[in-house]
Amino acid sequence: MGVFFNPISDTGILANRRNEAAREIERLRVELERHNHLYHVLAKPEISDYEFDMMLEKLIALEKEFPELAAEDSPSRRVGGEISRSFPTVRHAEPMLSLSNTYSLGEVEEFCGRVKRALSGEERKEPEPEFVAELKFDGVALSLLYRDGLLVTAATRGDGRQGDDITPNIRTIGTVPLRLGIAGRSGNWSIGEYRGREIEVRGEVFMTREDFAGLNAGRLPEERFANPRNATAGTLKLQDSAEVARRKMVFVAYHLRDADRQDLLHSERLHLLERMGFYTGGTFRVCRGAEEIREFIGEWEGKRRELPYEIDGVVLKLNDPSLRDELGATSKSPRWAIAYKYPAEQAETALRNVRFQVGRLGTVTPVAELEPVRLAGTTVSRSTLHNFDEIHRLDVRINDRVVIEKSGEIIPKVIRVATGKRGEDARVIDPPATCPSCGTPLRKPEDEVGLYCPNAAGCPAQVKARILHFASRNAMDIKSLGEALVEQLVEKGLAADPGDLYRLTKAQLAGLERMAEKSAQNVLDALHGSRSQEYERVLFGLGIRHVGLATARELARAFPSIAVLRETSPEELAEVPDIGPVVAQSVHDFFRERRSDALLEKLRDAGLSLSAAEPKTLVNRNFEGLSVVFTGTLERYSRQDAAALVEARGGREAKTVSRNTGLVVAGKGAGSKLEKARALGIRIVDEEAFEAMLA
Ligand code: IVH
Repeated sequence: MGVFFNPISDTGILANRRNEAAREIERLRVELERHNHLYHVLAKPEISDYEFDMMLEKLIALEKEFPELAAEDSPSRRVGGEISRSFPTVRHAEPMLSLSNTYSLGEVEEFCGRVKRALSGEERKEPEPEFVAELKFDGVALSLLYRDGLLVTAATRGDGRQGDDITPNIRTIGTVPLRLGIAGRSGNWSIGEYRGREIEVRGEVFMTREDFAGLNAGRLPEERFANPRNATAGTLKLQDSAEVARRKMVFVAYHLRDADRQDLLHSERLHLLERMGFYTGGTFRVCRGAEEIREFIGEWEGKRRELPYEIDGVVLKLNDPSLRDELGATSKSPRWAIAYKYPAEQAETALRNVRFQVGRLGTVTPVAELEPVRLAGTTVSRSTLHNFDEIHRLDVRINDRVVIEKSGEIIPKVIRVATGKRGEDARVIDPPATCPSCGTPLRKPEDEVGLYCPNAAGCPAQVKARILHFASRNAMDIKSLGEALVEQLVEKGLAADPGDLYRLTKAQLAGLERMAEKSAQNVLDALHGSRSQEYERVLFGLGIRHVGLATARELARAFPSIAVLRETSPEELAEVPDIGPVVAQSVHDFFRERRSDALLEKLRDAGLSLSAAEPKTLVNRNFEGLSVVFTGTLERYSRQDAAALVEARGGREAKTVSRNTGLVVAGKGAGSKLEKARALGIRIVDEEAFEAMLA
């Protein structure tokens, strides 16, 4: 701006810049959604993830500069960040029914017969009615509502009549179009076509097996989800949509309600859904008669293991919606559809022995060693028995014949002892008195089901498990450090903690069994490469009790370095959102242990990131180092937005007032926190003053 303010030309420049930004935002939006569809729905990406991220960053920056140009359906909203305090309830326009299930092909045939009879009245001679056979995706049902072509609400099934509005979480899913139609296809992405219309799409949200495994790998054993469906259900309920975005889920559409398209067959609607930009799996097939249905079921029984996600059966639906109305529904499920479920796969085998495995925190877990047996495409020779409560519940003994099952779960489990087959040689499984690895007498805390080895520092099994955890995929991701190698390193005294890995020499590695010069060099290279892993991964890799990947991320965000974290009291730690007193105490205890000091010193020497990378560019430093507590109701900001504003200015939010609090922002109706702040002489401001401080 010049010395003499010229209102006409300056606003002219601004308006120009704004128009330019509007055009660029629209271009980026179309491009990003086009690539999103190519990647998630068609699995045919045309650009790299990096190029995509760069484009997205550009869009986010422009929208930040011109917030009024940020549209409801902007791809920038897919990255999450919205925090929901609770999910509002929404009523479904039509109840979300469930399906009647069967495990029997005979009953499927009966169903076809029933439908045929019901439809062929005296005067009408129906040929074989047409059914659409679809896969039964093993996830969580979802209803998406579009008005004027834009996604307005995404709701869970709930009790069938009303569910939870979880729209911010669902926006993060790549296969959910935020706007109907396919971006970038000529003339196809205008909302015009959908103006004034309300369209509902129903389908299933699920997680691929791979993403499920990745998610579980970052969780502590006691927090792991049993199967992808549970993981999906848990994720949908998260209140932090950025975490939802990280967990990557898929939406597959299988139902369209559109008052203007009532003439279409179900199969035609599925094709239309694809043109609207949805993923349908592309696996549905129109079948006429029981024979064709049986064929479809048989085909997928074998092929389902090749899918990257779980299905638990096949759904059969009458293709002609107008005929569906003739059949109607019971209060629970329609009479025009049925689900055939594949039986959970089971196998019988012998339990040869029980081994006791010692985990990185000393927990002793009984593991069944089985006579190898084929089950659902893999050979199974081991299965966890969890703990002694489980052994008693199953009343299982060594040399018993047992039935193992693999259903939605990825890991097979012993579900019962095969009846009437216990032999003379059956032996009761006794709990061990001493640690199978180091011989230390085991302990059993009164309020826990498990046994544990108290020799944390010296027990080779625990050392080995800690090193493997450190090297694992979600921690330092050092692929060449397998079990056999770590075992040798620990046994030969070459590594007593993860820090020792970085002191290994080529000669030491090459001297180990099954290690040649070349593989020794590979290990050294992998270790060297791992030094640039992010701080939060290092923090997770330390293996602090109760600190899974998500918690490590929280901690890394709140405490920019291990040095700071180490000096923080349990009370202050517990002030961080999502860190409870148990986790806080556990973090504090970890840093009080002597072996932790030694470990951290080695990691520091090796050049690992023990502090966060340069913080994201701050808006300004007005809150630098300040711990801010909000109390009462703010009128202009949600609590989360206010916290984000503080973070973007170098401060952080705390939940409780303590001596370390730098500032208290008091909204309407502030109570005890305000009093405490007064008593401690902490600076207190109202919302207006807070707003002034931001600028
Ligand atoms: S149609 C009235 N189609 O299975 C029909 N459901 O047991 C409503 N499911 O709640 C559902 N794949 O969560 C339908 N291709 C598919 C499905 C499917 C999975 C789930 C859905 C539903 C449950 C019923």
